[in-house]
Amino acid sequence: MSSPDHQSNPDLDETINVTQAHGRVASDCAAAAREKHLADSGREAVPLWVITACGVVLLIAGGVLGNAGTLFSYDNTFRADYVRGTAPGGAADGPQPKTALVAFSAKGSKIYSSKCNGCHGSDGKGDGANYPSLVGSDFVIGDTQQLAMVILNGIQGPTSTGKTYGAGIMPAQGAGMSAEDLAGVMTYIRNNFGNSTGDVTSVEMAKNAFDLSASREKAGQPVTSEEVRAAHSSMLAGAEIFPDIMVNPATLAPIE
Ligand code: HEC
Repeated sequence: MSSPDHQSNPDLDETINVTQAHGRVASDCAAAAREKHLADSGREAVPLWVITACGVVLLIAGGVLGNAGTLFSYDNTFRADYVRGTAPGGAADGPQPKTALVAFSAKGSKIYSSKCNGCHGSDGKGDGANYPSLVGSDFVIGDTQQLAMVILNGIQGPTSTGKTYGAGIMPAQGAGMSAEDLAGVMTYIRNNFGNSTGDVTSVEMAKNAFDLSASREKAGQPVTSEEVRAAHSSMLAGAEIFPDIMVNPATLAPIE
């Protein structure tokens, strides 16, 4: 039940207004206190431009110090005189192994270029008049003793085909040749220019060739086709090297 007095009671209006006014004052004070507290403790929000500016400065400073090697440098990463160990199974240095056929042929190709190329040609075909072709020649792809004797002593015509070329004589090529050189050049011409015996003349066989050559009855003179056929129709003695085993291309020694 309400009293009509209430509507017009200024005291009551006053009471309500005072309550609202108190509420306003209280909330204003709280906000002011909050701001005062933040300001006092120094934790007010940092403006975005300050953060951006700091970022730019740090980026530039990092770049300068990093480039100067001050922040990080590989030189400072390892102890002085630190020597890096070899990875297991990896050779520290030296050439990568190759198959015997490839390695012996590569060696032989160099010998051929320096010793035989000038007469027999880079394709091994000679010139048909002064120098015979080595392609398909009996003395090249036949018994290895025959080829070795021709190379080490030279040959006095006629050749394996019965034909005589140019002056009819090839000078001895053994001077200054190592067993590796001879093994290489024999392997090379037996497996190039269209020849493909598929075998490797081993260094041991090449050594056998030097021995045989020195013990010839006519040592120091060029061989003839007759002598080669009569006395050297066999393969050189010595351990074989299979064409696909791995060897050191510098020494031609098999990889253990
Ligand atoms: C100065 C030139 C010359 C050089 C260098 C030379 N040869 Fe000859 N070679 C000849 C001539 C010429 C003949 C043929 C000689 C004859 O008619 O009797 C010949 C013959 C041969 C034959 C015999 C071919 C056959 O079918 O009878 C072989 C094999 C051969 N040479 C291999 C070589 C090799 C390998 C080399 C390098 C290590 C070499 N020659 C270096 C000139 C040369």
